[in-house]
Amino acid sequence: MARPHTDASPAGAHPDVLVVGGGIIGLGVAWRAAQRGLAVTVLDPAPGGGAAQVAAGMLAPVTELQYGEEPLLRLGMASNERYAAFAAELTGATGLDTGYRQTGTLAVALDADDRAELRELHDFHGRLGLASEWLTGRECRRLEPMLAPGVRGGLHVTGDHQVDGRRLARALVEACTRAGVVLHRAAAAELLLAGDRAAGVRTDDGADLTAGRVVLAAGCRSHLLPGLPEGVLPAVRPVKGQVLRLHVPPVYRPFLSRNVRAVVRGQHIYLVPRADGELVIGATSEEQGYDTTVTAGGVYELLRDAHELVPGLTELPLAETGAGLRPGSPDNAPLLGPTALPGLVAATGHYRNGVLLTPVTADLVADYLATGELPPLAEPFSPSRFQSKALA
Ligand code: GLY
Repeated sequence: MARPHTDASPAGAHPDVLVVGGGIIGLGVAWRAAQRGLAVTVLDPAPGGGAAQVAAGMLAPVTELQYGEEPLLRLGMASNERYAAFAAELTGATGLDTGYRQTGTLAVALDADDRAELRELHDFHGRLGLASEWLTGRECRRLEPMLAPGVRGGLHVTGDHQVDGRRLARALVEACTRAGVVLHRAAAAELLLAGDRAAGVRTDDGADLTAGRVVLAAGCRSHLLPGLPEGVLPAVRPVKGQVLRLHVPPVYRPFLSRNVRAVVRGQHIYLVPRADGELVIGATSEEQGYDTTVTAGGVYELLRDAHELVPGLTELPLAETGAGLRPGSPDNAPLLGPTALPGLVAATGHYRNGVLLTPVTADLVADYLATGELPPLAEPFSPSRFQSKALA
């Protein structure tokens, strides 16, 4: 149950938890922590913003699986399994739809090399006991008639779904508000320390917000918070993703019925069809700092590759272009739980999986905040794996 702020002090004064960053990760943690009876403030100039505003929202732990990332697969699967209930609970609490849809995903091959690679991925799925079905090109086109005639085969993964990141963010802001979370609309200017502990944050509107614990959930800017002692958090690098949004007029629907993805010339391309006719095409992957310019080259490459997969899409209206920054940790896995600085907790570094990992991150970090124990599922993602020798 949420704890109402009924004391005489201003709402949010010295809460149990101060979450720095009101993207979907920070909001998810705040919501779950408030449900555990903790008093929570979220600090963000525009809660509900961040990378989720750009993300396509594919929930694809199986089709995005990379070799050597089995612990991340377990975390992604755990989050995927929680998604239906998480989305339903959010909708129940707020009356807002999250766009969660159990569509499944079809990963297709466009040439013999892609086909061999997908076959290997299929074998890998088999060894890990993951459900994925191999389809011929003809079977793929039977499922998705708009696919290019040259598609050579594909993997149908009925468990990889989608959610709308923008709707999800809106619902989380509302759920937090209803659960008694205080949203302080300002930026973090400096981490405040009291002895060897994190004690709060000075904001850019001149407030000193103190709290029992500080959760750092500021995406690719997490390590840049002034006052953060060296070695507590590794650099979380920004990995730019450019994304396009097309609109499928009602007369052409269903244009696609499920997520469709492929690797074209070494680049991942995916198409995510929403119930309201939005068709999201993503994404570039560029490491060049904090730049979010949409470039002609980025748009060209996305359209060129998407057109190879689904030629008919060039007839559709182009509704929007955008670019977001994925927060990449040094090993591309998230940072979850206590840091070497007492009182400072990390919920960041989710890289390509922020939308997928929101429910499980919210549960695990809120568990830690409520009990002081990091659940075993989060242990491989402890920030201590990067702890510098100076702090060890
Ligand atoms: N998860 C998809 C991406 O980061 O592009």
